[in-house]
Amino acid sequence: MKKLLIANWKSNPDSPGRAVLLAQKIEKGIPSRNVEVVVAPPFPYLIPVAKALKKALLGAQDTFWEDTGPYTGEVSWRHLKHCGVEYIIVGHSERRIYLGETDEMINKKVLALLEQGLRPVLCIGEHEREGNEMPPIVGHQLKEALKGVKKQYLKNLVVAYEPVWAISTMPGARSDTPDNAFRALVYIRRLLSGLFGRSLADKVRIIYGGSVNSQNISGFLSEGKMDGALVGGASLDPKEFSLILKNSSKFK
Ligand code: PGA
Repeated sequence: MKKLLIANWKSNPDSPGRAVLLAQKIEKGIPSRNVEVVVAPPFPYLIPVAKALKKALLGAQDTFWEDTGPYTGEVSWRHLKHCGVEYIIVGHSERRIYLGETDEMINKKVLALLEQGLRPVLCIGEHEREGNEMPPIVGHQLKEALKGVKKQYLKNLVVAYEPVWAISTMPGARSDTPDNAFRALVYIRRLLSGLFGRSLADKVRIIYGGSVNSQNISGFLSEGKMDGALVGGASLDPKEFSLILKNSSKFK
């Protein structure tokens, strides 16, 4: 399976012109069709960025679970579909921390997206870790987010394991080790197997996020056996992101 690399631009860049330029540069840096690349800009840039993308797919950073209606300020999956979005990040730790997003809200988003044939990128991850043991919060977040998910939709799910302490903008951030990432992958895959059975669990892509760069990506994909990465800071630097893609394209 091709590795999945998602550029999470967060609330960047600061103008639509810069967003289009960045998308064009990222597009030029896609080495081959050996990797699946997704660019997730802020909502107002979705349409101009979509026009600049050819090989890369369009992603969004959040969604509302209802269709249309009296929900001031919310952007629903229907709006995103009209923009050509395929992948949607859900439950990012920054939304959980700064916007008070709960497991229940995240579950509603996952259910709505899967029903619509869209691909949720469900983010889970602990705030702190001591030792090698996977903190139970990771399993809790996964189980809560997947309540009521029908087996037939599972293949469209992506799980992003993002230890919060490893996200580059957190004070004292450091990337996790490929060994730990592998432990997380096994832990998540086991939980998915318990919920949905082995063969369906194997179809879910599990990716790593947290200070990913061109130096450490190979470790996460080889020893870590991750199916790809969710890249924040480094996706705003087209040269660095292109190196990440180049290094990822060696793995299958
Ligand atoms: P980072 O962000 O790559 O800058 O650590 C990852 C994320 O928050 O998705």
